[in-house]
Amino acid sequence: MNILTFRSQDELNKAGAGIITGLLQTNPKACLGLATGGTPVGIYRELVETCRQGLVSFSKASAFNLDEYVGLDRSHPASYYTFMQEHLFSHVDIAPERCHIPDGSAPDPEAECVRYDSLLEEIGQIDLQLLGLGHNGHIGFNEPDEELERGTHVVELQEQTRQANARFFDRPDQVPTHAITMGVGTILKAKTILLIVRGRDKAEIVKRALQGPITTECPASLLQTHPHVVVLLDSEAGSLL
Ligand code: GLP
Repeated sequence: MNILTFRSQDELNKAGAGIITGLLQTNPKACLGLATGGTPVGIYRELVETCRQGLVSFSKASAFNLDEYVGLDRSHPASYYTFMQEHLFSHVDIAPERCHIPDGSAPDPEAECVRYDSLLEEIGQIDLQLLGLGHNGHIGFNEPDEELERGTHVVELQEQTRQANARFFDRPDQVPTHAITMGVGTILKAKTILLIVRGRDKAEIVKRALQGPITTECPASLLQTHPHVVVLLDSEAGSLL
């Protein structure tokens, strides 16, 4: 595991975007696993700017997002579909048909998980999986549990997770109770994992995830078993390491 700590958000964003840009320059057809939440926003901003300058192209790349809320239509302002359009997809030259996000409004969410997994199986392996980290150690929406699921599945969100995401909704009670998430098996199958964490409020969970016991009660701790993980932290998130 390669852990890098940055003094400024700008440096962290440039480093994260640089890793993705470097991959696309050597492998234009790369399959990117993408994340939502506050953490990757600055990295997407850098990627948009790099693409605008003509230094990188997404035209042959494909993307698979980690998760989506169950019950939200794509057009909902807090859907991860809308998030990705706003922060990345509509600003770069990626082909819309190669941008994949679970459909949270599918009438049968279980069938949607099967559909998503079959798309993931077709591509075989994600080249680079971008991850943020939940305060409880979740990755994607894989919440701490006695057992973790390998593939895409419907998950009930923990109260702490719903509260942390309430800032994206008008009212806390609008945060959906369930989500569709890629499984930990798929995440760990990625060739490279790029974990990004910012802020003092994540320092304890960063320590548990990177240096604590490997346990399903902290899903991110399973990243310790992966052969190629790059972790980018701001100095606050890395302050307890
Ligand atoms: C959210 C998302 C995760 C994200 C994490 C951290 O609930 N499902 O993919 O990495 O929680 O979010 P944030 O970056 O906003 O702190």
